[in-house]
Amino acid sequence: MATNDNQWGSRLGFVLASAGAAVGLGAIWKFPYLAGTSGGSVFLLPYIVFTLTVGVSMLAAEYICGRYGKAGAIGSMVALGGKKFFPFGVIGVMSAFLILSFYSCVGGWCIKYFIDALTGSGLVADPSLLGKNFGGFVSNGVRSFGFQLLFLVINGLVLAQGIKGGIEKLSKYLMPLLFVLMLVIIVRGLMLPGAEKGLAFLFMPRWEDFTGQALLNAMGFTFFSLSLGGGCMLTYGCYLSKQTNIPTSTAWIAFLAVMSAILGGLMVMPSVFAFNLNPSAGPGLTFVTMPAIFAQLPAGSVFAVIFYACLIVAAITSSVSLAEVPVGVLVQHTKLSRKAATLVVTVAAAIFGLPCALSFGAWSDFKIFGKNVFDLFDFLTSNLGLLICEFSVAVLVGWVAWKKAKTELEASGPQPAWVEKALRFGIAILAPVLIIVVFVAGLL
Ligand code: TRP
Repeated sequence: MATNDNQWGSRLGFVLASAGAAVGLGAIWKFPYLAGTSGGSVFLLPYIVFTLTVGVSMLAAEYICGRYGKAGAIGSMVALGGKKFFPFGVIGVMSAFLILSFYSCVGGWCIKYFIDALTGSGLVADPSLLGKNFGGFVSNGVRSFGFQLLFLVINGLVLAQGIKGGIEKLSKYLMPLLFVLMLVIIVRGLMLPGAEKGLAFLFMPRWEDFTGQALLNAMGFTFFSLSLGGGCMLTYGCYLSKQTNIPTSTAWIAFLAVMSAILGGLMVMPSVFAFNLNPSAGPGLTFVTMPAIFAQLPAGSVFAVIFYACLIVAAITSSVSLAEVPVGVLVQHTKLSRKAATLVVTVAAAIFGLPCALSFGAWSDFKIFGKNVFDLFDFLTSNLGLLICEFSVAVLVGWVAWKKAKTELEASGPQPAWVEKALRFGIAILAPVLIIVVFVAGLL
């Protein structure tokens, strides 16, 4: 597998591709509405703390495992820890695949809203009408599935170009663009009278709001937003050269991820407060509340186009990372070429994606454990699959194979003693303890 086409072209390319994987709909769609419904700063501050502690350590653990094994998500876990880790690898890969199935559904919504912004047809000032429009669109399964398919096809076309020529190239162009575009929206939002209320909501700690539930939400989001537990960063580690310094790259990636969630919040909250809209609109915040704001801004359609372009860019650089997990496994363990594996994963994601798209319309009454298919896939992955897989990676790298992991970590040169100690503490102690807490609380 370790042919040249299966290596990142440069360290910068690797860091941007990883940041692309991390920064996605999580930062721009999920973060603002979670922060909005969980009291702003109560969500943001613990998220930052978790990312910079457990998040950084587990990112490094996944890269170490991947670079050691160089054999896809499952093969690399087995290479480092033996056959008993096989089922955990499978759980990770299945989680990444299921996330792709519902993620591509939201990716399709972003394309539709981008096109609406371009044609100017989506801009209405009345949020209740916008809510109806959104509901009408997502409940029309055929239309929303059409956009989802379009998203999956674009995703597949990028993947078919390979690691360096596809994923890395995409991220190298789009990630810097994403940051510039986000700044444009933020500056515009901050110039609005009343924007400072949004800043206070995001950054001023209100200690009385800190509940166990808020902490748990923040922790679950930390894993999702860093793309941990789905074998994703592990797969990206397979393509990493031995010369790359893992701790410093990891620090950069975590920094970019935290920055983006903050930027994601700053794109939305100041304007929401400036227009006296409700920050706790839930998942519709991006698709219902934001268009109402753009409709009232001078030259609002320009900002709407930029905003939805940000969402598409963030979504596609993440969805390629999700799809690369099963593609990498198929290339490793079957005789399929990369292009054939991409086709298989794309078709399979479309098949599993269809019930996700329909769960807002024709199939909305079809419920398993009281959840529609979309919510079920989200629950099965965020609250189960990702945590189980990530726990096993922590045990594997932190305990079962720490000696080999340490050697792998030092392949690029000796590491300062404190870096190694801190990483080991994060991987072997902090991560498993916190994952168990989230897991148990999430099931209650
Ligand atoms: N981190 C991405 C986001 O925030 C989603 C994502 C991409 C992901 N790859 C993943 C989540 C792997 C879990 C596992 O949008």
